[in-house]
Amino acid sequence: MIKKVGIVGFGQMGSGIGQVAAGNGYEIVAVEVTDDAFRTGLKYITKSLDKAIEKGKADNDYKQKVLGNITGTTDLHALADCDLVCEAVIENMVVKKQLFTNIDKICKPEAIFASNTSSLSIGDMAAVTDRPTQFLGLHFFNPVPIMKLCEVVKTLDTSEQTFDVAFQFAESLGKACVTAKDSPGFIVNVLLVPYLLDAIRMYERGLATKEDIDNGMMLGCGHPMGPLTLTDFIGLDTILYIADIMFEEFKDSHYAASPLLRRMVNAGYNGKKAGKGFYDYTKK
Ligand code: 3HC
Repeated sequence: MIKKVGIVGFGQMGSGIGQVAAGNGYEIVAVEVTDDAFRTGLKYITKSLDKAIEKGKADNDYKQKVLGNITGTTDLHALADCDLVCEAVIENMVVKKQLFTNIDKICKPEAIFASNTSSLSIGDMAAVTDRPTQFLGLHFFNPVPIMKLCEVVKTLDTSEQTFDVAFQFAESLGKACVTAKDSPGFIVNVLLVPYLLDAIRMYERGLATKEDIDNGMMLGCGHPMGPLTLTDFIGLDTILYIADIMFEEFKDSHYAASPLLRRMVNAGYNGKKAGKGFYDYTKK
């Protein structure tokens, strides 16, 4: 039975997961590297809750409940009595393995560990712990409070019991869950990333303007955002990172990043968070 949830990494994704879990009555312990980083995560939550209130999707009582259920710390030992710990730290295998090695010694033996990675091997992370059967992926989508999906990812070792408990946990957050295998990109990114890469290639070849590519998919296919706007929203660096991992794994040109994407990332055009990507976000 999950009551207390640890979230390690309280950025855009971690704070989103913390927000929906706190809103559904779970006690959240958020661990960040600095107090400032935790406060930034809390700001994302406050902004999202204020928008939800403005849209009539939540009220002030709900906001207070969410904020009241979250405590922040820089000390991993605060995770000792968590029933589930979900990490959403930087997409770097060395950092993730070090984290799981550390918390494996701190957390109670029955605790379940989850990673919100979008493309790294969950099995490789589980292998550094003494609890590979209690380890799985919970891949949420950005923005977590709005996107309905959670991919629940089973490794070769994840036990049925762990899978069922984690699946029910994600459902209790109001998410619709799909079951995915521990393979790069799981279900959604295997389909989404080549589509975004193709849109970038189309723009790079000068086949259409960025606005027309985006409008084409929004107005012709009913997508809420066009592919270049969505790439800006997710982050060009994130898309490049996922594409490179999938290309490395599958050796399939579907996942090959175009020279333009790599050049833009190298020049700091990382999308909305950087103020510039395919579009300019500095003057709103
Ligand atoms: N809390 C709760 N509900 C909210 C809310 C909040 N903070 N903010 C808005 N909403 C609700 C609105 O009321 C509205 O609900 P309705 O449809 O019932 O009326 C709905 O959410 C949409 O809100 P808006 O029309 O105001 O849209 P916004 O402009 O605020 O947000 C968006 C736009 C939801 C981001 C939309 O453009 C979208 O869905 N874009 C695509 C995002 C996407 O594809 N994400 C996945 C990225 S891939 C990923 O994350 C995986 C990783 O591994 C790469």
